[in-house]
Amino acid sequence: MDVTEALKTRRTIRGYKPDPVPDHIIREVIDLARLAPSNSNTQPWHLAVVSGDARQRLEQAIFDHMNAGNKPNPAFPPGGAGLWGQYKDRQYACAFRYYDSLGIKREDKKARGLTALRNWQFFGAPHAAFLSMPKTMNRANAIDLGIFLQSVMLLFTERGIACCAQGALAAFPDPVRQIAKIPEDNAIMCGISFGYEDPAAPANTARMDREPLETVASFTT
Ligand SMILES: Cc1cc2nc3c(=O)[nH]c(=O)nc-3n(C[C@H](O)[C@H](O)[C@H](O)COP(=O)(O)O)c2cc1C
Repeated sequence: MDVTEALKTRRTIRGYKPDPVPDHIIREVIDLARLAPSNSNTQPWHLAVVSGDARQRLEQAIFDHMNAGNKPNPAFPPGGAGLWGQYKDRQYACAFRYYDSLGIKREDKKARGLTALRNWQFFGAPHAAFLSMPKTMNRANAIDLGIFLQSVMLLFTERGIACCAQGALAAFPDPVRQIAKIPEDNAIMCGISFGYEDPAAPANTARMDREPLETVASFTT
């Protein structure tokens, strides 16, 4: 598979088989993603992978934390905050396409709320990973994390491994930090659930479209 094919094939997966990804493959992917470029070669990324028993404990710890009444407290403003106009429209279109795939009606707020909770069950994936950078860094450094994240996702795609990048996994850093090994000076930017796709999961039938070339680029000669 070449890069073009990986870009065309990758899509967000929200339903997984329980089978774990072999440890040496996870390490190989991160070892390659580490070659991503970054501003002044600062390499501000860190990926904390949580698998096996620790993954089960983490899911429980996050739900205990939520059930105790704790509200989301991400270190960085979340991507969904402050959206307007066409960006808000696309966010809604994305959400409704996902709910449609699950047969959830738009007016069914309760079902939509329960669906959101699937984020912290890692959509049933056997692995969750948390991408962090030093908390003192800012937006320009976050570009480096994005490049690293996309590298991981394309390398997964090449190996037949499915994933879902998740801003939602930055929402409850306290229980995450108790279990995942996040460097002390870092703050979590987002997470990524990964494993092998469950082809029978209705959520995986959702397809998101993109704006045309004329909208995303301009050309001056
Ligand atoms: C940084 C980032 C954060 C995301 N956060 C979430 C999330 O919290 N929950 C979720 O279900 N999907 C999340 N997504 C997945 C997007 O909704 C998805 O990439 C987008 O709708 C395009 O669909 P595609 O990946 O299938 O092409 C996130 C994606 C990215 C890149």
